Amino acid sequence: MSRQNLLPRTAPFGDGERASLDAVLGAASPTQRAWLAGFLAGLDAAGGQPAAVPAAPPKAAAPLTVIYASESGNSETLAGTIAKLARKQGFKPKVVDFADLDLATLPKAGKLIAIAATWGEGEPPARAVRAYGELMGEGAPRLDGVEFAVLALGDTSYVEFCAIGKALDARFEALGGKRVAERADLDLDFEKPAADWIKSTLKALAPADTSDNVVAVDFARAATGEDDEAEPSREPLVVEVVEHVNLNSSRSDKETIHLALAFEDGAPAYEPGDSLELFPENDPQLVDEILDAAGLSGDEALRNALLAERDITTLSAATIERFVKATGHTEAQKLIDSGEAKAWIEGRHLIDLLAAYPAKLTPEHVNTITRPLPPRAYSIASSRKEVGDEVHLAIVAVRYETHGRARSGVASVHVADRIRDGAKLRVRLKPNRHFRLPQDPATDIIMVGPGTGVAPFRAFVQERRAIEAPGRSWLFFGDRHFLHDFLYQLEWQDALEDRSLTKIDVAFSRDQPEKIYVQDRIVQNAKELVSWLDGGAHFYVCGDAKNMAKDVRAAVVKAYETVKSSSAAEAEAQVAALERSHRYQQDVY
Ligand SMILES: Cc1cc2nc3c(=O)[nH]c(=O)nc-3n(C[C@H](O)[C@H](O)[C@H](O)COP(=O)(O)OP(=O)(O)OC[C@H]3O[C@@H](n4cnc5c(N)ncnc54)[C@H](O)[C@@H]3O)c2cc1C
Ligand SMILES: Cc1cc2nc3c(=O)[nH]c(=O)nc-3n(C[C@H](O)[C@H](O)[C@H](O)COP(=O)(O)O)c2cc1C
Repeated sequence: MSRQNLLPRTAPFGDGERASLDAVLGAASPTQRAWLAGFLAGLDAAGGQPAAVPAAPPKAAAPLTVIYASESGNSETLAGTIAKLARKQGFKPKVVDFADLDLATLPKAGKLIAIAATWGEGEPPARAVRAYGELMGEGAPRLDGVEFAVLALGDTSYVEFCAIGKALDARFEALGGKRVAERADLDLDFEKPAADWIKSTLKALAPADTSDNVVAVDFARAATGEDDEAEPSREPLVVEVVEHVNLNSSRSDKETIHLALAFEDGAPAYEPGDSLELFPENDPQLVDEILDAAGLSGDEALRNALLAERDITTLSAATIERFVKATGHTEAQKLIDSGEAKAWIEGRHLIDLLAAYPAKLTPEHVNTITRPLPPRAYSIASSRKEVGDEVHLAIVAVRYETHGRARSGVASVHVADRIRDGAKLRVRLKPNRHFRLPQDPATDIIMVGPGTGVAPFRAFVQERRAIEAPGRSWLFFGDRHFLHDFLYQLEWQDALEDRSLTKIDVAFSRDQPEKIYVQDRIVQNAKELVSWLDGGAHFYVCGDAKNMAKDVRAAVVKAYETVKSSSAAEAEAQVAALERSHRYQQDVY
């Protein structure tokens, strides 16, 4: 705009002031003038004090696409946080689940952030499998000119740490994208480093001319959910154990603990399908062994920290590297240099490292070598409509032996062996909006939950009983032995009687010479199963991710193939369509 006299002679300013203001305003763009108007209004509202956080100019917002591949919601939550912060910085963010990702949109993304979790043994989250496969395939579009950054979530206790984030990062570059920020590979305690990464990445992605005008945001608060919009607290709540029962018979080789937990100030607003994170304590005997091996017996402060705060079992390549850095242990260094570390850690824990490579440690060493003790998730096995301010869980004790040592799962054995009625536990709700009952209670549901996979379906059935849902419910349950391992057997019988459960099919793998699993029951019931699905039923799978979930999916494909006399590809497309319409949901681990 050319310079002109904007202020009338009647404006309450002297001639010199009017000329100065005209000089500034006459040359200002509409955007700058609009910003100034807003700024002055805000200044008055703030009692004449310059606002601590000036409003960003209403420039044309830079589009930013945030894609996430998530199973249990961490990447999804971070994607939401990024979008919220990006919006405040003048971006126009669009958040897309990999499940809904259309690859053809990526070349036009301009600016792209991908957040990806790794599951299975280095696999993408189930909902991301299709788009991830397409992206890695030959038909993937070129991404020339797209500025990208990747945030990888994972768990250092897995050999394939952050494999999917790493693969995406490399793929975007291979397709011509321009990396604007180094990838971060984050462990389970990702909140703080994720906040730092988001802050620097948004800065790197900001258009050059807006970088001075970005709004100051408290990223650490925002990324932990403590933003100005009220979000659920991430602080653990203390609950009391009011019921602790072994659901298996005394002759079973398994031990599944039904836990009822009471919330003093009311249970959080959980929904069937959500999980509860439990903050465990380590085995005191193992803590003492570690202190002994480190030459630190008698240090009570460290002992308490190791009991409740540090992960003293996980042994990853990173643990060995930190151990070598702290101690300068030359023999352990050889393990890394020879490339043997990856194989050596298989089935071994921290105590094995300390036993094999003795070193005198300080409490600081122990702190740097170990990571924070992560909580464990458990599917909620109750509906608030039936149990009020309680949460029920079904936890199977993990016990096994490797390298001549008996091993105990940290959380599950803590619950099985050291927790009884009246004990207190720290827990936190972990919502899962991707594992939800159909909105219409008249919709039929099919639930496949062998072992502790049955837990959320107890919640589903309780909920549907409470609301007198007219839809039919069909449960597939499986375990080892009918007599010893039929979890919640009496409750299912009651549910069949009161019609909150329409049908149950069971598969007890070790009650006959040949192994029978839930997927076999699915194939045997193919005709009826497909007719339920054709009628709009929703299909749910919970439990083992490694084999069961894949076998069940293959069984449903097979069911379509035989019932519809269709090709394998057509049947596969039908199951994929169920997934895309969120009628095939899974919560597997
Ligand atoms: C969303 C979600 C819901 C879940 N719901 C439930 C539930 O309802 N009930 C339930 O019981 N669990 C559930 N889990 C699993 C649960 O979170 C824990 O992973 C499980 O209880 C083991 O934790 P832990 O601390 O006892 O064992 P950890 O100390 O974490 O040890 C487990 C690890 O030990 C190793 N391991 C286990 N068995 C063997 C073996 N035979 N040989 C060699 N290594 C082995 C594996 O590396 C395994 O990852 C759920 C998980 C998720 C993610
Ligand atoms: C059954 C299971 C398998 C996992 N496999 C891996 C793995 O192979 N590599 C890895 O780095 N992390 C692995 N993880 C850790 C997840 O990536 C990590 O918990 C992540 O924060 C999950 O993010 P999400 O909630 O967005 O899915 C696994 C977690 C579970 C429960």
